[in-house]
Amino acid sequence: MTECQNGAVPSLAEKYKDYFKIGAAVTVNDLKGIHGEILIKHFNSLTPENDMKFERIHPEEGRYNFEAVDRIKEFAIKNNMQMRGHTFVWHNQTPEWVFRDRDGKDASRELVIERLRDHIKTVCERYRDIVYAWDVVNEAVEDKTEKLLRDSNWRRIIGDDYIKIAFEIAKEYVGDGKLFYNDYNNEMPYKLEKSYKLLKDLLDKDTPIDGVGIQAHWNIWDKNLIDNLKKAIETYASLGLEIQITELDISVFEFEDRRTDVLEPTQEMIELQAKVYEDVFNVFREYKDVITSVTLWGISDRHTWKDNFPVIGRKDWPLLFDINGNPKKAFYRIVNF
Ligand code: XIL
Repeated sequence: MTECQNGAVPSLAEKYKDYFKIGAAVTVNDLKGIHGEILIKHFNSLTPENDMKFERIHPEEGRYNFEAVDRIKEFAIKNNMQMRGHTFVWHNQTPEWVFRDRDGKDASRELVIERLRDHIKTVCERYRDIVYAWDVVNEAVEDKTEKLLRDSNWRRIIGDDYIKIAFEIAKEYVGDGKLFYNDYNNEMPYKLEKSYKLLKDLLDKDTPIDGVGIQAHWNIWDKNLIDNLKKAIETYASLGLEIQITELDISVFEFEDRRTDVLEPTQEMIELQAKVYEDVFNVFREYKDVITSVTLWGISDRHTWKDNFPVIGRKDWPLLFDINGNPKKAFYRIVNF
């Protein structure tokens, strides 16, 4: 018997039922085996890690591929879960055809908007009965230069109002689902300021935005995390926005640390990670009035996108369950309150 089947281990989602939803990013393979068991016991929200992204679900004009997300939805229904929709407008994982005309030149603004409408309408109509929050726009804020908005095909072809347009289109089709702007590092001062500016401006222009997603790809070494996080939550809440933690993982490596010779997490790392998870969940609970969902970007350390980011092929151990699917120290810290 694995520990997650063990009745002595409390259910994470159950423990947090009066606070917020507890989610995990999943692929179809996670729905069975040990990951499937963990999902059923500990989670009540699922985000398709890749399968709802434009390139997967709408790889060619006029052709949609619903198979994977349909299976995730079926699993969610069966186990009484809801889903987050991720994501419509992003500079990554979006196929080139969206931005090209028949001659391979840039498509017109009108054509790209029309394609986006078809995309959002089709995906919403199929999944809006189970999706409670949509990442309508992902990672639009520029973080390498002083500029506010990142360059992307969306922005270049549609213009700076592409974000507002995307939210307006989504509003027409989502039903009861909430509309989110999602980004990384948006709790850090340098990006918080820009994000606030962007969101305030969109809200002033009556853009239908309900909330902001804090991705939360963090690490155990960031001394300013808790202060930054609180400040960010308060800043976004001051705009009347709902907040969701959308892609939480806590790497054992500092972002700049590119070592490849660490083959196992040290005791120090595991202990520090438990402490950071405990601290951030304390903050999440403190702000439960504005935080409506907390999603982990994966299930166990057996497989995580951090194994390939920012260093390809370097193992990381950023989640709450270990490579065997057993709860880690961090898990026990966040359920004991
Ligand atoms: C990542 C997935 O986890 C990987 O499997 C994929 O190869 C790349 O994308 N921000 C996001 C997520 O919004 O969609 C990204 O997910 C991680 C960073």
